[in-house]
Amino acid sequence: MLSELIYVSRRSISCTDKDVEQILEASIRRNSKKGLTGVLLYSQTQFIQVLEGESDVILNLYDHIKKDKRHKNALLVSLKLIEKRYFPSWQMGSKKIGDNYEFLTQLNSQEKDVFQQLITGINTHNNTTDIVRKVFSA
Ligand SMILES: Cc1cc2nc3c(=O)[nH]c(=O)nc-3n(C[C@H](O)[C@H](O)[C@H](O)COP(=O)(O)O)c2cc1C
Repeated sequence: MLSELIYVSRRSISCTDKDVEQILEASIRRNSKKGLTGVLLYSQTQFIQVLEGESDVILNLYDHIKKDKRHKNALLVSLKLIEKRYFPSWQMGSKKIGDNYEFLTQLNSQEKDVFQQLITGINTHNNTTDIVRKVFSA
C-alpha cells in the first residue's frame, strides 16, 4: 500500500555538506530501485525527510536511517496511507534551508508556525506535506 512517512532529526555536528551530498547521491540511486520518492530538507542542524512508497519498503529503510550516525534523535512525525505521491518525479529531492525559519517568506504566518512545530517533531497540521512541498518548491 502506498504510504508516506515524515520524520525530523538533528544533523550530527560531524555531518558535513559533503556527507549530505553523499547521502543524497546514494539515496537517489537506491530509492529508484525500490520505487521510493520524496524530499530531504536540511539545515545546518536539522533534517526533515518525506518518504513515499510501499509501506514495508519505507519502514525497512526508516529502520536503517534511524541508526545512521550522520544524524540523531529521529522522530516520526507522520505515517499514513496516501492515494498519490506528492513528489512522483523525485527519487530524493533536496533543499538546504536556513536555521531561521521565520525568513521562509513563501509561508504565511500560520504555516510558519506549523513548520516551526514540525521541525521540533510536533505535528499539529493534518497536511504537513503541503507545507514541506511549499518550502521545497520555493
Ligand atoms: C538524513 C538521512 C536521510 C537518508 N535518506 C536515505 C534515503 O532516502 N534512501 C536511502 O537508501 N538511504 C538514505 N539514507 C542512508 C541510510 O541511512 C543508509 O546509510 C543507507 O540506506 C545504506 O544502508 P546500509 O549500509 O545499511 O545498507 C539517509 C541517511 C540520512 C542520515
